[in-house]
Amino acid sequence: MQLTNRINRIQTSPTALVISAAEQLKAKGVDIADFGPGEPDFPTPDHIKKAAIKAIEENRTRYTPTGGIAPLREAIPAWHSRELGSTYTPKECAVTVGGKHAIFNAICVLVQAGDEVILPAPYWVSFPDIIKYAGATPVIVQTRPDSGFSAKAADVEKAITAKTKVVIINSPSNPTGGVVDGAEFERILAICKKRNIWLMADECYSHFVYAPHKPFSIASAKDSKEHVIIIGSVSKTFAMTGWRIGYALAPEPLIQAIIKIQSQSTSNPTSIAQYAALEAMRGTMDTVPPMLAEYTKRRKRIVEGLRAISGVSCEWPAGAFYAFPNISAYLGEGKNSLAKTCTELSKLLLEKAHVALVPGEAFGAPGFLRLSYATSLERIDEGLRRLENFFAHAEAAV
Ligand SMILES: Cc1ncc(COP(=O)(O)O)c(C=O)c1O
Repeated sequence: MQLTNRINRIQTSPTALVISAAEQLKAKGVDIADFGPGEPDFPTPDHIKKAAIKAIEENRTRYTPTGGIAPLREAIPAWHSRELGSTYTPKECAVTVGGKHAIFNAICVLVQAGDEVILPAPYWVSFPDIIKYAGATPVIVQTRPDSGFSAKAADVEKAITAKTKVVIINSPSNPTGGVVDGAEFERILAICKKRNIWLMADECYSHFVYAPHKPFSIASAKDSKEHVIIIGSVSKTFAMTGWRIGYALAPEPLIQAIIKIQSQSTSNPTSIAQYAALEAMRGTMDTVPPMLAEYTKRRKRIVEGLRAISGVSCEWPAGAFYAFPNISAYLGEGKNSLAKTCTELSKLLLEKAHVALVPGEAFGAPGFLRLSYATSLERIDEGLRRLENFFAHAEAAV
């Protein structure tokens, strides 16, 4: 079938492929230790669910304004100001169908063929494809395990050319959990201001950071507004992945452009989900610390378990809920090697050890695997047992 160059430039999300391969095995009754999905395993808090039920009962089931219902466009900047110290107004806020949609729309209105977007690697799978879909080129800047996979201003600056339009910083990062601290973030902002480039800050994991880190937004920095686009979401903070509500905070003309593209595509995010998100933004934040406490326990268990496997190294993620071990000792042609690539290895792990995880290639990081620890301690233990066994009996497994 003849499809456009635009669609042929991108691939289906590799995380979605892993999830569907694991689901197929589960459907056949296979017990999978599933480290694949990047979503909280906690239920959406009750007060948020009740707000959605109330919205249905009150017949709030019609089209809404394209940029979101007025109370939510007020509540998001108010929440962001309270939690993260910014000063946005409702006109500087657009509600979107998840954070991914906010990124897609912002990139589509900001870049085109010939433009470059700087993206630290390992990167979240969707960034390069969204950039390519918009016709621009991702310019990859490597981050390093020994500095916690944290993007550095000096590396960003070196990658800037006359074609650079946007720098993307995702902190805490999916897949590494890397966090850019406030001072370094401000240095990146200063470079963007000097070179008149947009700084897109993806804050979807903002509230899942481990001590001594604290939630941080670059929008709290003085005079940041003119060059910053904040991308946020209720998906992770409030365990609301399926509700599909995210947002962009940015100068009004950019928000207007995002609303324009929405007016010709999605029309508006689901009305009912917007009322649920309104409750998330206005209601208690007491549901967040228990989730963080649980992730903290799981992080310890999984990182220690992975480090105990001979030949595997794993940094402590500073945020989010992913472990990102280096398993390159088992790749290649050598005597210990189990597979040529991580992709091959992750297929073997799924088929032979019944462990689902995402290969590093998906994130521009061959040699690494991503394990989501948004799953119970029991399942983490079971998965670790299987991994230890697989690597210990390496030859038998191949
Ligand atoms: C780094 C990052 N940004 C954005 C998103 C988008 O999340 P959502 O569209 O559910 O808000 C995700 C989801 O996994 C993510 O990991």
